[in-house]
Amino acid sequence: MRLLVTGGAGFIGSNFVHTTVRDRPDVEVTVLDALTYAGDATSLAPVADRVTLVQGDITDGALVDRLVGESDLVVHFAAESHNDNSLHDPWPFVQTNLIGTYTLLEAVRKHGVRYHHISTDEVYGDLELDDPAKFTADTPYNPSSPYSSTKAGSDLLVRAWARSFGVQATISNCSNNYGPYQHIEKFIPRQVTNLIDGVRPRLYGAGENVRDWIHVEDHNTAVWAIIDRGQIGETYLIGADGEKNNLEVVQTLLEVFGRPTDDFDHVTDRAGHDMRYAIDATRLRTELGWEPTFTDFGAGLRATVEWYRANEAWWRPAKAATEAKYAQAGH
Ligand code: NAD
Ligand code: DAU
Repeated sequence: MRLLVTGGAGFIGSNFVHTTVRDRPDVEVTVLDALTYAGDATSLAPVADRVTLVQGDITDGALVDRLVGESDLVVHFAAESHNDNSLHDPWPFVQTNLIGTYTLLEAVRKHGVRYHHISTDEVYGDLELDDPAKFTADTPYNPSSPYSSTKAGSDLLVRAWARSFGVQATISNCSNNYGPYQHIEKFIPRQVTNLIDGVRPRLYGAGENVRDWIHVEDHNTAVWAIIDRGQIGETYLIGADGEKNNLEVVQTLLEVFGRPTDDFDHVTDRAGHDMRYAIDATRLRTELGWEPTFTDFGAGLRATVEWYRANEAWWRPAKAATEAKYAQAGH
């Protein structure tokens, strides 16, 4: 099988490539990645001899047409992915998440190539803290930020291309991932790298916001389950029952570093900050037989801390600039 992975030099995409190379030696992997600030070719270094990396943009129609034409399957991870950035400059989100997805859809339509679309639970908006409901594939779309609204728009393009043009597509909407190779602008790696540097973690607002954490490896085994056994045209929600509020996560990290659990700073809250995400992944578990393997969040977090400690060369070059951007935004 010839597999094209967009965004394969980013956090989840590079982990997906690692897993694929390890578990599926018959798959030929090509990565298309623009290597934006969020992409890093060195994330693919451990598998460099098994993967072709093409540096290019998913909005480049001619390049996308050629690469899709040489593939049997496209898994589309590439995106502008950070909510805080989308609040300061939404344009790259419109460009990559909407126009980029449109460009890929036109190419898979033309070449009749199977397509899997990676999306987020944020398309459903947020839940109240005491709401017994979780998100399902029937939850109405209600995105809050420029990031989540462009992801929602990209999902709707996929649905339309599947229905109107018969594109062989599936969609997955996953909750918050953690694990190795995550950019240090994101919540967990930002606090981990702060703690390594002896800096207090930064909690937005009161820290009551809940995220439904899943290890990146579990996300990616679910993606393969959908590619292998999912029904064309369907949407699957991916989650591992990992709800935690941000304060609990920061306190767990402080414990890992042997620091007092009140050794953090509250900073300005995010505008329009979603309160809670929660995934009902029953369908994935019962219909496709998928199960997560990282069921102990504390253990997963400790392993992630160890990874950042052992791979300072990977994250250090981005640390000062990332923190300067946050300082400017009052975070
Ligand atoms: P990331 O920001 O770490 O990586 C994105 C990658 O896409 C980078 O390598 C970047 O260089 C590349 N890219 C960006 N614009 C591009 C363009 N125009 N052309 C080609 N490549 C481009 O993101 P991530 O956290 O790995 O997220 C991957 C996907 O998973 C996204 O679609 C995101 O919406 C989705 N998702 C993320 C999470 C999460 O918790 N991180 C959860 C659910 C879904
Ligand atoms: O739910 C899936 C989504 O999860 C993905 O679609 C996004 O690509 C991914 O970035 C993530 O979005 P969030 O906005 O939830 O993740 P982030 O890591 O930015 O923040 C997680 C929570 O932590 C959120 O409530 C904001 C808070 N936060 C974040 C940072 C960076 C802090 O309290 N302090 C911080 O320094």
